[in-house]
Amino acid sequence: MEKIIIEGGRQLNGTVTISGAKNAALPITAASILTGGWHRFHRVPQLRDIETIRKIMSKMGVVFEEQDGVLSINSDNITECEAPYDLVKTMRASILLLGPLLARLGRARISLPGGCAIGARPINLHLKALAAMGVDMTLEHGYINARVDRLKGANVFFDIPTVTGTENIMMAAVKAEGKTVLRNAAKEPEVIDLAVVLRKMGALIEGDGTDTITIRGVKNLGAVQEHVVITDRIEAGTFMVAAAMTGGSIAIEGCRSANMEAVIEKLRAVGAEVKETDSGLHIRGPKTVKSVDIKTMPYPGFPTDLQAQFMALMCVAEGSSIITETIFENRFIHVSELQRMGANIEISGNQAIVRGREYLSAAPVMATDLRASASLVLAGLVALEGRTEVHRIYHLDRGYEAMEEKFMKLGANIRRETA
Ligand code: EPU
Repeated sequence: MEKIIIEGGRQLNGTVTISGAKNAALPITAASILTGGWHRFHRVPQLRDIETIRKIMSKMGVVFEEQDGVLSINSDNITECEAPYDLVKTMRASILLLGPLLARLGRARISLPGGCAIGARPINLHLKALAAMGVDMTLEHGYINARVDRLKGANVFFDIPTVTGTENIMMAAVKAEGKTVLRNAAKEPEVIDLAVVLRKMGALIEGDGTDTITIRGVKNLGAVQEHVVITDRIEAGTFMVAAAMTGGSIAIEGCRSANMEAVIEKLRAVGAEVKETDSGLHIRGPKTVKSVDIKTMPYPGFPTDLQAQFMALMCVAEGSSIITETIFENRFIHVSELQRMGANIEISGNQAIVRGREYLSAAPVMATDLRASASLVLAGLVALEGRTEVHRIYHLDRGYEAMEEKFMKLGANIRRETA
């Protein structure tokens, strides 16, 4: 098993290039099932989650080719419509195949994802919307068996704005008979990027980026000639937190400030200087980090996927902060590991009270989910008196492309070791 070893205390300076967004690349890859022909995508990150969706889709007959940083996908011959348990259990986003399979073949068999480390994460809203579109679904032996003759447009109201739910139903609706209106839809930039791709296929979608998305079904779609996946705002935010924590100065290449307003606002509040540049953002960390309160919210609010990283920052801030998690009920699993590094954190329900201290102390720690792992690496970068070992980093590899190499280039003393 691999681990990451960090000797903390170095200031990080330089330039980092942000990769394509995992949470945009996943639904975009799934969307290639909608129609045959060669789709061509640029900036698809090399991540374990992308490998997982490729494995599942390859079993279905989808062909992938990669050359010069372009991922070409061909779905001319879909021979299977099953997403098996052994792969789905490693990545819940596999559920994104349900909508496109129903639109293309009228049938799908997908393993029910089950809970995960950060919460129960039900998919009832995906299923309710599909039922409204005429899909018959049964649950057998842990699998959803779904079947429909022709999807019908429907009025869908999401009780909670769900990101993959909005994406799944958008993909189902592009070939449905008639109009589908999604209300209380997710407004995340990744939802917009998927809508852009679907429009490139010939889909009729309006309102993406607002809470009402209208999709008019069409009979035929065509392959996407060219699309560049948006950059990863969560990866960008993670490196920005690293600059703030180490008092460094980092150019964050390729990220868009428009997608990161809530995060930039909080970074400025902790004392960092953030400027827009021609190629992205530039951040200069403060001498002393000030405490701020954080409350996670659906986009454009503060992202839950950066909560753990900001908590690591607050561990070394001056004063106390209250971090409120409103999206996932169990997303404080990083707390006990941060406490092992000397962090002063108290949890009360969905709130964590973090009392900052001057530095953290190096320790062996265990990664428990993707963003929790990132927070432990960040903590390791400022931990003194020895070396921090982050174990179970396969979680990190699900969502961060070459993270330790990027940190190394910025001056961190970090390396990957096989235990
Ligand atoms: N929810 C339901 N029923 C549903 C769907 C969602 O109750 O049918 C609830 C969830 O339990 C949660 C809330 O609605 O409390 C929002 O969940 P959402 O469905 O938006 O989450 P998701 O689509 O499963 C995506 C990202 C997550 C990110 C969340 C929130 C992808 C592939 N995943 O998950 O990313 O945390 O949105 O922004 O897009 C990550 O990258 O580390 C990650 C977990």
